[in-house]
Amino acid sequence: MTSTCSVFCGVSLDGFIARPDGSLDFLEGDGSAEMGDHGYDAFMAGMDAIVMGRNTYEVVLTFGSWPFTKPVVVLSSRAVDLGVARERGASVEVMHGEPQELAAALAAKGLFKLYIDGGQTVQRFQRAGLIDRLILTQLPVLIGQGIPLFGPLERDIRLKLVSSRTFPGGLVQSEYLR
Ligand SMILES: NC(=O)c1ccc[n+]([C@@H]2O[C@H](COP(=O)([O-])OP(=O)(O)OC[C@H]3O[C@@H](n4cnc5c(N)ncnc54)[C@H](OP(=O)(O)O)[C@@H]3O)[C@@H](O)[C@H]2O)c1
Repeated sequence: MTSTCSVFCGVSLDGFIARPDGSLDFLEGDGSAEMGDHGYDAFMAGMDAIVMGRNTYEVVLTFGSWPFTKPVVVLSSRAVDLGVARERGASVEVMHGEPQELAAALAAKGLFKLYIDGGQTVQRFQRAGLIDRLILTQLPVLIGQGIPLFGPLERDIRLKLVSSRTFPGGLVQSEYLR
């Protein structure tokens, strides 16, 4: 079996996944519509593991309870304290390296369907040519500055739009395949 790397995230209209301080309040909409899961649970059900950058992991720890039932790999070049996450029942480990090596190491453990999460992390997998599927839920808000989902590339990456749907509140969810 070959690995597949997918992204599922909420993004402002101007391409940010968080404000500069990491806050995510703009993802909640303007209160005019009920915010559903937008296919998140179904997407997660198809994943074997979540691969997230250290910055995203640190934000997840602020949620209070551990939100994932699948194994989580935190990417970092340094030591990461996993104690709190494990106390909350997380299956979590730390890895580092090039995206291809990471995907191969996870495949060797039987983890093929990878949910790649965090701006820098997605960008590194994208530059390595490993992102197969992008599901972006775009909110109708400009936040001006923040943590970008995308970054510099050596060459264009052309994607195929396979679906696009709208949700109350003006959300547009688009799914792209490589
Ligand atoms: N809107 C959404 O749906 C959504 C989704 C996910 C995250 N977010 C937000 O995005 C923000 C975090 O994104 P971010 O761009 O700052 O960073 P990130 O990708 O979460 O984390 C970046 C860090 O991950 C480590 N890393 C990444 N790839 C690595 C690799 N191949 N090998 C070793 N280490 C690697 C490095 O940690 P070290 O410096 O420790 O080496 C790097 O500094 C948070 O605010 C989070 O809440 C939003």
